[in-house]
Amino acid sequence: MTTASQKALAGPPKDCPLCPRLVEFRRRNEDQFPDWYNGAVPAFGPSDARLLVVGLAPGLRGANRTARPFTGDYAGVVLYPGLLKYGLAKGNYRAEPDDGLELLDCRITNAVRCVPPENKPTPAEQKTCRPFLVAEIGAMPRLKSILALGRVAHEAVLSTLGLKKSLYPFVHGKAYSFDNKLSLTDCYHCSRYNINTGRLTEAMFHTALEQAIKAARAVT
Ligand code: URA
Repeated sequence: MTTASQKALAGPPKDCPLCPRLVEFRRRNEDQFPDWYNGAVPAFGPSDARLLVVGLAPGLRGANRTARPFTGDYAGVVLYPGLLKYGLAKGNYRAEPDDGLELLDCRITNAVRCVPPENKPTPAEQKTCRPFLVAEIGAMPRLKSILALGRVAHEAVLSTLGLKKSLYPFVHGKAYSFDNKLSLTDCYHCSRYNINTGRLTEAMFHTALEQAIKAARAVT
């Protein structure tokens, strides 16, 4: 692997200074929760994976605490067992970064790497964080399929690929194929709110995941 792709895969530094509001939130969290990670959360999983899962942003008490995407967040309770079910992970998910869980042919990242207040990154923050997703995707040589969890992730992927939002609206369960090389599957975010309101069920999540896996494994 070249130094450039290693740098791209490393993502932003833990104390990324680019978004003033997120830096300020981080400082407050450092004061309040000094034992937590409190930094830009790196991607998780092998860089030669064919499937990339893109989430929204770290949750305050989850990924922002544990330094691993979706780990300790409610959404991880849906995501990780799903990955285990389909052989994209091995081990046990125990919601802690030292649980030994390993991802197989799958990597997980977020559209925004730092925890935003109330789980809501601003459009400017999404844009500022975009180059890290661009670099991430560019440094995954075997990537064939992306599973976007929610509209923010979907739009981050589109803009990363230089594609117009109006041409590719977010539709749960829809899979777009770009030049037969890369596929983008949309899924409602597996957040506590979506699960509790029934917008997304575990079965719906598994169906979308199966679709993304099929695209990742398709021979072109
Ligand atoms: N935790 C993450 O890392 N990403 C999400 O989108 C939600 C929770």
